[in-house]
Amino acid sequence: MAGEASIKERVLKRIQDRSAVIGVIGLGYVGLPLAVEFANAGFHVVGYDVSQRVCDLLMRGESHIQDVSPADVATLVKAGLLEATTDESRLSTADAISIAVPTPLSKTRDPDMSYVIAAAETATRQTHEGTLVVLESTTYPGTTREVLAPALATRGFTVGVDVFVAFSPERVDPGNPVYHTKNTPKVVGGITAACTELASALYASCIDTIVPVSSTESAELVKLLENTFRSVNIAMVNEMAIVCDKLGVDVWEVIEAASTKPFGYMKFTPGPGIGGHCIPLDPHYLAWKMRTLNYKTRFIDLASEINSQMPAFVLEKVVHGLNHDRKPVNGSRILVLGVAYKRDIDDARESPALDVIRLLEEQGATVSFHDPYVDCVREDGHVRTGVPLTTQLLADADAVVVVTDHQKVDYQLVMDQSKLIIDSRNIMRGYKPGKARVVTLAAARPSAVGSN
Ligand SMILES: NC(=O)c1ccc[n+]([C@@H]2O[C@H](COP(=O)([O-])OP(=O)(O)OC[C@H]3O[C@@H](n4cnc5c(N)ncnc54)[C@H](O)[C@@H]3O)[C@@H](O)[C@H]2O)c1
Repeated sequence: MAGEASIKERVLKRIQDRSAVIGVIGLGYVGLPLAVEFANAGFHVVGYDVSQRVCDLLMRGESHIQDVSPADVATLVKAGLLEATTDESRLSTADAISIAVPTPLSKTRDPDMSYVIAAAETATRQTHEGTLVVLESTTYPGTTREVLAPALATRGFTVGVDVFVAFSPERVDPGNPVYHTKNTPKVVGGITAACTELASALYASCIDTIVPVSSTESAELVKLLENTFRSVNIAMVNEMAIVCDKLGVDVWEVIEAASTKPFGYMKFTPGPGIGGHCIPLDPHYLAWKMRTLNYKTRFIDLASEINSQMPAFVLEKVVHGLNHDRKPVNGSRILVLGVAYKRDIDDARESPALDVIRLLEEQGATVSFHDPYVDCVREDGHVRTGVPLTTQLLADADAVVVVTDHQKVDYQLVMDQSKLIIDSRNIMRGYKPGKARVVTLAAARPSAVGSN
């Protein structure tokens, strides 16, 4: 065990004196902010990405991630602290490698592990004695031990002795003005205690609070618990919106009043459905794993079912809204406001807006969209380009559907110039009544309660 101590101590010392080189595989929403934090902490960071476009852009001192400023990238690249490359051999100099590649679902909603496997193979090819490899991609419990560690073992290394392996879930919340990589506590779980110790030391160099747990499986489950918690609670409040709609009760009033309880209640708000790379996908990684153990995760399945039906609920509101104006959806001009999956960000992946648009078009509507953060969206190879928000556009639309409540939009203009607004986020409540009739997901209809 003397060898174990010396290899580990050597890496630890290189982390502590900042002479360690840090590799990051995957420079997207998760990997780039992490690479920047490591470089800000004084490490030389080798960012490896399969996308030449991403690497070229970063090396020019630009940024493709909203939360990372181009100025920071430019400064770090110029100082020689950050490099972005498609040449994986540059990772061979790294003392530690963090993997932040996508973990999507296949068409059959099973985990698509191809990116993690490819990244594990890259890390394995570039690992040397003492390398610490940490998986950050959200995945099912067991991945680090069953996929990453065996890959490294093929090179003859013994995990915990001459290479070190851990899982540390990324918790980045894009667009959050308060919490970012540095001040969001980081959970770390290693294959062995030495792995946890090294990975904790690595992240402590650039993140304020480290939360070590006893295994990689615990760390993997922490992330799945967090995101399943959100999915289930969003589904519960979405169902509450449907309940309130049927009862003729204002769901927003109920939520605001419930939120005054100073304990035992956490506020979630209903909407058109869930989106992004995390909440709609991650719980299915756990559901899949549990299916292999012959257990059905009922909460996950039910939450997914309710959340994925919300775009259809929005469509129902549009149909009723237009019907009130004696118009069919077929042939109506509909403006969708906001296609990002949540407010003030530029990410439209898995956005419920895409489902809302598809459902409206299936009914024969002519749909356009405006989003101050998203110029165009791609779906099944089809590119759809946004339009500027103008008085004429609003006046021409038979209905405006608010899917994402970006703060940058001039909602008073929307209120004053539109005929009908389907407001799935209740953003219009803050504006003076105008020409438009506003329909929310569930509004007060006092006479409806108990009237049968
Ligand atoms: N986006 C979020 O808000 C968020 C938050 C927490 C966790 N996560 C998780 O983090 C992981 C990464 O997500 P993301 O949003 O950063 O993805 P992303 O798509 O923004 O970035 C992934 C990057 O990896 C690159 N890549 C793909 N395969 C590669 C390979 N084999 N080698 C090198 N580079 C490769 C892609 O070109 C891309 O630039 C996922 O597991 C996701 O679930 C994401």
